[in-house]
Amino acid sequence: WGKEGHYTVCKIAESYFEEETVAAVKKLLPESADGDLASVCSWPDEIKHHWQWRWTSPLHYVDTPDYRCNYEYCRDCHDTHKHQDRCVTGAIFNYTMQLMSASENSHTIVHYNLTEALMFLSHFIGDIHQPLHVGFLGDEGGNTITVRWYRRKTNLHHVWDNMIIESALKTYYNKSLPLFIQALQTNLTHGWSNDVPSWESCQLNQTACPNPYASESINLACKYAYRNATPGTTLGDDYFLSRLPIVEKRLAQGGIRLAATLNRIFSSKPKHA
Ligand code: ADE
Ligand code: ZN
Ligand code: ZN
Repeated sequence: WGKEGHYTVCKIAESYFEEETVAAVKKLLPESADGDLASVCSWPDEIKHHWQWRWTSPLHYVDTPDYRCNYEYCRDCHDTHKHQDRCVTGAIFNYTMQLMSASENSHTIVHYNLTEALMFLSHFIGDIHQPLHVGFLGDEGGNTITVRWYRRKTNLHHVWDNMIIESALKTYYNKSLPLFIQALQTNLTHGWSNDVPSWESCQLNQTACPNPYASESINLACKYAYRNATPGTTLGDDYFLSRLPIVEKRLAQGGIRLAATLNRIFSSKPKHA
């Protein structure tokens, strides 16, 4: 996602934080966040091109074999040099482990930068919900598919990261991101309320569950993102109106699942045997 997408995911997550999560997040946030997680959720995108952070760029996505429309951790989670675990699902497991090890054992000295871990985890749980962040290898998740978005020349990946959200803000929300977020919050407490518990759930005794989110994303990428969006296509009202509900639901799911993951990490409640 772009800046608005990440801000939306983290704002929704904040409203589902348990008390202990609010306190733990507040302690870990950098001064620049001014107590607001959402304000730093795009930080990993701002730094990924700086030389000292270049190694983090493959952590924003996972590419899958062309046209298969499925995802497997062992097959797909690696960078271009075939280094295993260097992809968005691997990064979510890793940063969850870092935050867990500190949360569980307050006596051992922690070797990780937990402020960075929190900002990376929050960002990557957002990214994994963008369908084309689990796209095809051959087109780099739609980055090499040139399309028109109404009159503007862009690429399919950028349409899903930014343009659908941007057009929704202009068309329906008076260009106000807070109004857009409020509409998703209303949908969460009414339209999607019966689905929220299943979105929150994770495998027994697991803290993070990125693999099912990646499978959902590649399925949505095949069914909605790539469909009727071959190179050179002009995407307009038909595409916008049919895909906006998918984008809205993925942003909401990302927020719910970020909150659920952080609540599991920072909860002091004992887990039953
Ligand atoms: N670069 C290569 N594949 C990508 C993807 N799926 N998303 C974002 N950037 C990428
Ligand atoms: Zn992207
Ligand atoms: Zn990203």
